[in-house]
Amino acid sequence: MQPLVLPFVHGEWFDTPAVVVHRPTLDRNIQKMADFASEKGVALRPHMKTHKTVEVARRQRLAGIQGITVAKLGEAEVFADAGFRDITVAYPVVSTVKRRRLTALAARARVTTVVDDLEQVDVLARSAEERAVSVGLWIKIDTGLHRCGIPAEAEDRVAAVASRIVRWEERWRKEPGGGVYFAGLLTHAGHAYGASSREEVEAIARSEGEQLTALKRALRLRGLPCPELSAGSTPTAFGVAGVPGITEIRPGNYVFYDRTQVRLGVADWSDCALRVVARVVSRPAPTRCVIDAGSKTLGLDQGAHGSRGVTGFGAVCGSVGLEVTRLSEEHGVIEERDGTAEVPQVGAMVEIIPNHACPVVNLTRRLGVVGEGGWEGWWSVDAAGRVD
Ligand SMILES: Cc1ncc(COP(=O)(O)O)c(C=O)c1O
Repeated sequence: MQPLVLPFVHGEWFDTPAVVVHRPTLDRNIQKMADFASEKGVALRPHMKTHKTVEVARRQRLAGIQGITVAKLGEAEVFADAGFRDITVAYPVVSTVKRRRLTALAARARVTTVVDDLEQVDVLARSAEERAVSVGLWIKIDTGLHRCGIPAEAEDRVAAVASRIVRWEERWRKEPGGGVYFAGLLTHAGHAYGASSREEVEAIARSEGEQLTALKRALRLRGLPCPELSAGSTPTAFGVAGVPGITEIRPGNYVFYDRTQVRLGVADWSDCALRVVARVVSRPAPTRCVIDAGSKTLGLDQGAHGSRGVTGFGAVCGSVGLEVTRLSEEHGVIEERDGTAEVPQVGAMVEIIPNHACPVVNLTRRLGVVGEGGWEGWWSVDAAGRVD
């Protein structure tokens, strides 16, 4: 599990700890996913929660995307300010304040969001009518993660919510001042992160897609429309895009990848574009040193949706025998595990590929950028901390 990939950083370009992106690797990851989606004939609507950075989103737009996904309205507001005009808020919008923010957003962008019960449909439809804006509604389907969403096998419940949306949509079409319309079915198969092999990931991806297409057929049989089918996280995007009928994928993590994606067999170490660069500040024993990146930089997350047997808090680049074994807020402990690795000396720089890149980025305000020719400067993480 430890990478032998070499350091990105070759000088005193910045102070540590820092979160650093290798721009050529990032650009390659972005282009590959855009080319893949276009080859498969599906729309690409990447999730912004991974990078929260307008500059990265601009690069995604240049490579070819059809819109963006966010979890939080705070993220949506940042990207709308930056000119992104087609936004899916893939998270239930529940409070009065959030509905007000959603409808304000819908006045300046094409906005869709998710629902999984009848009452949410009614409340959102009334808000959209009152504010004279259009909001697209996806029905969130649970294809196995067991988080939000109507279970895929509960066809009657899905049909009931779909027909309620369609009823509101008919009203909106008659009087097109404002209202809601049916966008389709949306799912997130996050349980793929619990897989133990690439084959298992592929099976989950196929099932994610097939559950949506089966539901669409069931809606059709009841005389209901179902415009789009949206699926696909970073592990499952490649498999689900091949299921006939899927119209959109929403991977997020693929821009950076991380130790979890390597563990799943979805990426190689050389695809990992993001690292935490830290410095050794103490070497109290020959088998142990301490770095200046702790849980406030690396995060305690051992992988999306749980640790699944992962040990440690990231992979140390350039060494197969070192492990980040413990974190306190500002200290990280690296230990030598197999008797072969050289524990770095005080003052040395260490590069760590995090277990889960997304929370690491949320914890920093800027990303250091490294290109083929060395240091390129900083990008602001515009929506860092926007979890509102
Ligand atoms: C609703 C939704 N869509 C898409 C994604 C993107 O998944 P990933 O980060 O695995 O690419 C997520 C991740 O949490 C999500 O919650």
